[in-house]
Amino acid sequence: MGGTCVIGLQWGDEAKGKLVDILTEGMDLVVRYQGGANAGHTVVYGDDVYKLHHIPSGILNDGVLNLISAGVVINPATILDEIDGLQARGVDVASRMKISRRAHVVMPWHTLEDRMWNRLVSGEANIGTTLRGIGPCYADKIGRSFAIRMGDLIRDDFASRVDQIVEVKKKVLSATGAEDIGSLDAAKIVSEFSGYADRLRPFVTDTNRIVLDAVEAEKQVLFEGAQGSLLDIDHGTFPFVTSSNASGTGISSGSGAPGNWLTRIIGVCKSYSTRVGGGPFPTEQDNEHGEHIREMGKEFGTTTGRPRRCGWFDAVAVRYTARLGGITSVALTMLDVLSAMDEIQVCTAYELDGERIDYFPSHAEDLKRLTPIYETLPGWNHDVTGARTVADLPEKAISYCQRIQELIGRPIEFISVGPDREQTIVVDTLTA
Ligand code: IMP
Repeated sequence: MGGTCVIGLQWGDEAKGKLVDILTEGMDLVVRYQGGANAGHTVVYGDDVYKLHHIPSGILNDGVLNLISAGVVINPATILDEIDGLQARGVDVASRMKISRRAHVVMPWHTLEDRMWNRLVSGEANIGTTLRGIGPCYADKIGRSFAIRMGDLIRDDFASRVDQIVEVKKKVLSATGAEDIGSLDAAKIVSEFSGYADRLRPFVTDTNRIVLDAVEAEKQVLFEGAQGSLLDIDHGTFPFVTSSNASGTGISSGSGAPGNWLTRIIGVCKSYSTRVGGGPFPTEQDNEHGEHIREMGKEFGTTTGRPRRCGWFDAVAVRYTARLGGITSVALTMLDVLSAMDEIQVCTAYELDGERIDYFPSHAEDLKRLTPIYETLPGWNHDVTGARTVADLPEKAISYCQRIQELIGRPIEFISVGPDREQTIVVDTLTA
């Protein structure tokens, strides 16, 4: 017994939503614990496609309580849109979801600050954020004095808190020449956000108590990570990261569940690599291979629509994040995307300053300078989207998965060969 977790092992977009959806059956709770509306996950349910930003993927299952816990930052307008969209399609969100009083609120000044920071940093140093105000909101959380939590949003003194903060934010933003400062009108913000507060109040509660009670009662809890481990604020490709702990290290801090209760930690990685936004990407293929992967994998951002940068599987990076996250098994996704390739490369080590290294360097500059060392594996040139067991896969596809398993040092438990739920192979042993 103990908590089950799903986290991304690369730079996000590893197709975690489908796995969470599959694992949700039989769960009592599904907990989203970090990130905010920068994340976007797609859940396909029958003929319906749901695009969610804050709301856990478990929302479609009756009998499961979905929590948005302390480590998440919430944009009230966006989450209300998600709620309305789901309710319009008959999903009973009201009885299936709770939001933590401790979760922080993304306020209009955060979005302005994100845009301002983005404008002030140009070229290669630009992080290329989703411009959703995520970094500034987390910065205020760490800074404390100008933060607003969901518990503050629904309190009577919300208006005076906004007055105080707007006064300071206006000074800072005008000193840096930010645009749209006129939109920071305290009275308007209070009126708009009081409307959000009224609608969100029934959802807001102390989710820590729910999580801790569930731990003691040995309930089935699924923790749903957003983004990916290489975007982790502390352990990722800093500063080209998101502002939360997107690796396995964030599960406990963001949800309030004790770390030693998390017993099954599934790391999700694509059969290749992608990244959106700026920052080092050692195995990037800015060429016809990358283009082919982008087309076959429809690699465009769920939240921003930006084309994703594509490249070969980086086993050094994934071995690092699998160890960091205490991963107990792996879900290898998008195997079908590689089906029409004669040869596939996998990065097994790096060369840095003339030396072969097998670890993931901590500095972005080193990550930019290094040269990946590749191993070439034969492609299988065969459609795998109909495979439902390992035995249905071509031998060369099995060999590819076996090699990845060996390189990252964790057993592959799931292989995904398409977007539908059924296009998921549960691996017993990885042999033909
Ligand atoms: P932010 O999270 O909007 O501050 O963006 C910081 C970096 O994380 C940028 O490179 C984004 O493209 C990236 N990022 C944030 N959320 C996601 C995600 O859900 N998938 C992939 N990349 C993301």
